[in-house]
Amino acid sequence: MNVLMITESYFGNTRRAAEAIRVGLQSRDATVTIGDAATGPALTGVDLLILGAPTHNMGLPKPASRRQAHEKGGQASTTGVAELLEALPGDLVCRVAVFDTVTGTGFFAGSAAKAIEKRLRRRSVTVIARTSFLVTSTQGPLADGEVDRAEQWGASLA
Ligand SMILES: Cc1cc2nc3c(=O)[nH]c(=O)nc-3n(C[C@H](O)[C@H](O)[C@H](O)COP(=O)(O)O)c2cc1C
Repeated sequence: MNVLMITESYFGNTRRAAEAIRVGLQSRDATVTIGDAATGPALTGVDLLILGAPTHNMGLPKPASRRQAHEKGGQASTTGVAELLEALPGDLVCRVAVFDTVTGTGFFAGSAAKAIEKRLRRRSVTVIARTSFLVTSTQGPLADGEVDRAEQWGASLA
C-alpha cells in the first residue's frame, strides 16, 4: 500500500506524530512518504492519503494563527492544509484519513481534523479514520503515550 502523509507543523509535534504513524504503517509493510502541506506534494499513485495539522483557534491554521505560532517561536509558513484542500483535484479517488494535534480535549478545544473532514465531506470525500493527539502545551511535546498511540493508529490504517 502506497501512503502519502501531508502535514503542517509549527513546533514539530504534528510532524512527530506523523513519523510515529509512519512507523506503524511500515510495520504492516506500507510504503510511506511524508510531505509538507506548503509544498503541495503530488497525489499520483497514492492508495491512502493522510492529512495532519495542528489545531489553531478550534480549527485549521489560517494566516493570522500561523503568524501567532511564528511569534511564539514556531516555524514561519504562509500556507498549509487549508490551502491544500482548496487545491485538491475534484476526482480524488484514494482513501483519506485525518489527524490533528490539540492542547485540550472536548468541544472547546476544537479540532483541525474535524475541520478537514468537514471540508472533504463537502467535496463528497469520505474520511475513513480521524483522531487527535494531545500535546502538553502550545510548543509541545506530545503527551505521554501519544507517540505509541500514533504508531498503533498507523498500524490500524494499514
Ligand atoms: C495561534 C494558536 C492557536 C491555537 N488554538 C488552539 C485551540 O483552539 N485548541 C487547541 O487544542 N490547541 C490550540 N493551539 C495549540 C496547538 O494545537 C499546538 O500548538 C499544536 O498542536 C502544536 O503542533 P505543532 O508543533 O505541529 O505546530 C493553538 C496554538 C496556536 C499557535
